[in-house]
Amino acid sequence: MFTTLSPAIESAPYDLFEAIETLKRDLNAVVLAHYYQDPDIQDVADYIGDSLGLSRQAAATSADVIVFAGVHFMAETAKILNPDKQVLLPDLNAGCSLADSCPPESFAAFKADHPDHLVISYVNCTAAIKAMSDIICTSSNAVSIVRQLPDSQKIIFAPDRNLGRYVMQQTGREMVLWQGSCMVHETFSEKKLVQLQMHHPDAEIIAHPECETMVLRHANFIGSTTALLKYVQHSDKSEFIVVTEPGIIHQMQKQAPGKVFIPAPPTAACACNECPHMRLNTLEKLYLAMKTRQPEITLDPTLQQQALKPMQRMLDMSTV
Ligand code: 13P
Ligand code: SF4
Repeated sequence: MFTTLSPAIESAPYDLFEAIETLKRDLNAVVLAHYYQDPDIQDVADYIGDSLGLSRQAAATSADVIVFAGVHFMAETAKILNPDKQVLLPDLNAGCSLADSCPPESFAAFKADHPDHLVISYVNCTAAIKAMSDIICTSSNAVSIVRQLPDSQKIIFAPDRNLGRYVMQQTGREMVLWQGSCMVHETFSEKKLVQLQMHHPDAEIIAHPECETMVLRHANFIGSTTALLKYVQHSDKSEFIVVTEPGIIHQMQKQAPGKVFIPAPPTAACACNECPHMRLNTLEKLYLAMKTRQPEITLDPTLQQQALKPMQRMLDMSTV
């Protein structure tokens, strides 16, 4: 079968890794990548991390250009933290079902229905939702941030209901939850997970808190992608069933060689445990983004200022 390549990709150099390294030097650019990116993108990145780690790197970088290999809300977060730097996203269509599940107009009405509540929003949301929030959190620091607030403080947690439920269970706090979710983490089948474990009785189940409660209750360990990675490195177990986007397995294999990682199965017979948004980015698109310096993330300055405050509050409150 013949594939037609765009003229730009056809003229891309043979060794994209070398070409990207040259562009990094020429542009004084840094490549930040999430663990859910394709292995070759992870291998060319200067920093690979979870949402909290990536936000911290974006806040601290001295580079002039940030190339964000992740999804739109992540690149937008980097722009919120760096309004004067150029932020590039290899594919502007790399969105997020969770961020999309929280439209600003509906959320404004929801917020108005709960006037005495503080709004904590998971970083997986648009700049417009961040601007309506008091504190941003990630899956690494959500529990710790809620624990730092006085018991009497009423809280709205948005947009992920599964992470919200997990935080409620960990902290013993009631929160009003926005009913959003991630299409990838809701795809895992409890039945298939239990069947898989029967075939691998020595394997530990490790899961991301964006999964549904009925899946999480089978997990031996629950954490952000960075926490899952650290867990498999330090555990004395050698086999793990990984209940999150399988892109993370590339780093697990690199950092815990010799151990076995089994991706948890989705309900349907599909590859829908892979995030279709994250996987829109390719090494070729990353190269082209650097070469042409687009697509670029732009933000209204007023919105950027409003969204920065809860981001800054999160960074100040992050002890992990
Ligand atoms: P973390 O990066 O916080 O582990 O979250 C995973 C995720 O779904 C990112 O989109
Ligand atoms: Fe969004 Fe889920 Fe993909 Fe993360 S894995 S980018 S939350 S759709």
